[in-house]
Amino acid sequence: MPVDAPSRPAPVLDHRPSTESVASRREQVVREVARRSLLTDTEPVCAVLDLDTIDELASSLRAAYPAEVTVLHTIAAKAIPLVGVLKHFQKMGLGCEVASPGELELALAAGFEPDRVIYDSPAKSNQDIAQALALGVRFNIDNFGELARVDRLIAEHRGEIPSIGLRINPQSGAGSIEAMSTATTTSKFGIGLADYREEIVRAFTERPWLRQLHVHSGSQGVALEHTATDVARVVDLADAIEAATGAQQVDTIDVGGGLSVNFASDETTPSFSDHADALRQTAPDLFSGKYEIATEFGRSLTAKAGTLLGRVEYVKQAGPRSVAVTHIGVHVAARSVFMPQSWPLRVEVFTPEGTRREGPSEVYDVAGPACFAGDLIATARTLPVIQPGDIIAVPDTGGYYVTNHFAYNSLPRPAIYARATVDGRRSFSLVRRGQTIADVVAESGEVDLVEITSESTDTLDGRIPDAR
Ligand SMILES: Cc1ncc(COP(=O)(O)O)c(C=O)c1O
Repeated sequence: MPVDAPSRPAPVLDHRPSTESVASRREQVVREVARRSLLTDTEPVCAVLDLDTIDELASSLRAAYPAEVTVLHTIAAKAIPLVGVLKHFQKMGLGCEVASPGELELALAAGFEPDRVIYDSPAKSNQDIAQALALGVRFNIDNFGELARVDRLIAEHRGEIPSIGLRINPQSGAGSIEAMSTATTTSKFGIGLADYREEIVRAFTERPWLRQLHVHSGSQGVALEHTATDVARVVDLADAIEAATGAQQVDTIDVGGGLSVNFASDETTPSFSDHADALRQTAPDLFSGKYEIATEFGRSLTAKAGTLLGRVEYVKQAGPRSVAVTHIGVHVAARSVFMPQSWPLRVEVFTPEGTRREGPSEVYDVAGPACFAGDLIATARTLPVIQPGDIIAVPDTGGYYVTNHFAYNSLPRPAIYARATVDGRRSFSLVRRGQTIADVVAESGEVDLVEITSESTDTLDGRIPDAR
């Protein structure tokens, strides 16, 4: 190379899982499930997570950010509230974003250090806030009412104050899925930047312990440029706070999660480096080294790693339509069943032995087992001819599907397994046991109703939540 050749930035290695590896791992998963006879009359549906794919997604996230900048990447627990898998993320060096007392306990049980846990919730109780302070968990305040509570609790708090931020709603509008859009003018999340810019700056000038700004514009369907523009607004707000206080006060910018997932093919697109590039272009000061960055991705770290597998029970005819009645339904795919336009899923057909079905096709509705007509995971879909006993595989379901069970019809929570390569050998493990019917009955409440009187509330062994 000539000595005066212009120097170029080193290319960022593409760590994301390749389209081929995602597809071939899924084929292996279906074969393993068939070979081990994991789909039975008692457990006709299960899910498998691919830890190799999760590892590649996490490394591609890390690689997307320059090594010189301090970044706390967290996994959003709501996408994958499974203690064993959260522990896997912890071992990879990620932190954990939580949004409820239950998720916080999961994160602690998975071994995350409290200062690597970020607690976001618009409805934190006094107890939740006091616990976060006592444990040293980072948290983002959602609204002025919560800010006033934190003021009171901090006044009583002895010891170090964890990193505390304010969640900002940039009020920049919705993405393509209204229900997932948190930056609308009237969103229930955060403090509106257009509504309260001055009050936000004042909140910081009056509270030296407030050191973080948080923004999460939505999950799935928010364009990269939209997200990046919102982050730029928050960086600009950090400058305004610095100008008002006369010194840098905001030391961390939490950019939330929300990278959309491609449900149409096995390609991981957009990638974490596309996301970071959009941030670099639109909010370059984020990478100046002045701020620590926090991220809170969920779906984009998990979706491509998961497959739902269910047995076909019957194939029948309804008018001109063939209907495959399967065990994959609303209990494991609530979003797609209730909002099929927003959350379309691919469906693949395999023989009972786990071989992909090829050949002649038909148009099918692929139905779940639940007792309402809309319990369909695909409608009018052209698929290879399906036989009873076949296995239906649904890709891209590693986050927010089987892990966010919907208990309609008392359908039990299915088993979840993990496939991984460990020391060059393939391993297959249990992540979560399937619920038994006995578990479902036990969970359904008291067999003999327990009378509550004002005197008896304290004696019920914690079974009745204290509403005071
Ligand atoms: C505050 C916050 N952070 C992170 C996430 C994770 O979003 P995603 O799974 O789209 O990355 C969510 C999702 O609801 C959220 O509300």
